[in-house]
Amino acid sequence: MMIQAQGLRKTFTTRSRKGTQTVEAVRGVDLDVAEGEIFGVLGPNGAGKTTTIRMLSTLIAPDAGTATIAGHDLLKEPAAVRRELGYVSQAGGVEDTTSPRAQIMMAARIHAMADPKRAAAEVLERFDLTEMADRPGRTLSGGQKRRVAIAIGLVHSPPLLFLDEPTTGLDPQNRANLWDRIRQLRDSGTSVLLSTHYLDEADALCDRLVIIDHGQVVAEGTPGELKREVSGDVITLRVDEPERAAGTLKPYARETRVDEDVLRVYVDDGEHALPALLRALEEQGLGLSSIALDRSTLDDVFLAKTGRTLRDAGAAT
Ligand SMILES: Nc1ncnc2c1ncn2[C@@H]1O[C@H](COP(=O)(O)OP(=O)(O)O)[C@@H](O)[C@H]1O
Ligand SMILES: [Mg+2]
Repeated sequence: MMIQAQGLRKTFTTRSRKGTQTVEAVRGVDLDVAEGEIFGVLGPNGAGKTTTIRMLSTLIAPDAGTATIAGHDLLKEPAAVRRELGYVSQAGGVEDTTSPRAQIMMAARIHAMADPKRAAAEVLERFDLTEMADRPGRTLSGGQKRRVAIAIGLVHSPPLLFLDEPTTGLDPQNRANLWDRIRQLRDSGTSVLLSTHYLDEADALCDRLVIIDHGQVVAEGTPGELKREVSGDVITLRVDEPERAAGTLKPYARETRVDEDVLRVYVDDGEHALPALLRALEEQGLGLSSIALDRSTLDDVFLAKTGRTLRDAGAAT
């Protein structure tokens, strides 16, 4: 296990002229992140994602709970934990006036690396940043800035990388590019814990995830497991004899429904059910003119667990 965390809690108290306010940002979060996986923390704004990541990366102390990170105790060995991780903050970017190379070399020196210049050159190359490495940070595009921020977090080659909302604010092309880079990191052995409020990002990118809401984990699993748990999949078929087809497919389905010439077949796992359904139709000589598989989404999961959609809860989709 790369991260094992139990019962993490954090309450913030703020004092203003209006009096004292407390916010229970994280209320008992457990996490298990395996080595070499992309693990997601999905939740709406204010759910406690950043606070959780900041606790796990030693930036703030939890009020309660324990965690072991890359074999080190979070509370007793924070310096050892820090050596094992890279941290890229939400909206983390680059300084306007210094160059990416200078900032990455600074990070390499902070980590007491033997050859900061070479380390910087390597990570710049890896993130296709060599060309703009010596320009002032302000001249970089949003996507390039985000890549520099990640390069800074990775300069010391940590086995674990924290990415707090890495693609927020990026256009679709830069998002897709960053997803590929994050997958490459995973494929080269780095464990990644990332937070997001994008359903499609959690679905496409994460091997496993937790969904959090109001500081608590409401669901945990692979994207596929979570979606199957709530509502299964629906296969929509256009067939010559829908009633007879429904009878034929009944043994394979939770439920079948005929609506004029359309037959809907509700199954637990559409991808695995499909071949058997097609064979059964074929054997009965039932002609098929079209077929579609629709899966439930992570928003259906969020709705089932919290009674709200992620959109209502204040996140874009
Ligand atoms: N330093 C802080 N002081 C007071 N309240 C905070 C602080 N940091 C976060 N919070 C509050 O804690 C809750 C969770 O915040 P955060 O962890 O940033 O959520 P997320 O990253 O999921 O959007 C929010 O209500 C936020 O306003
Ligand atoms: Mg946040």
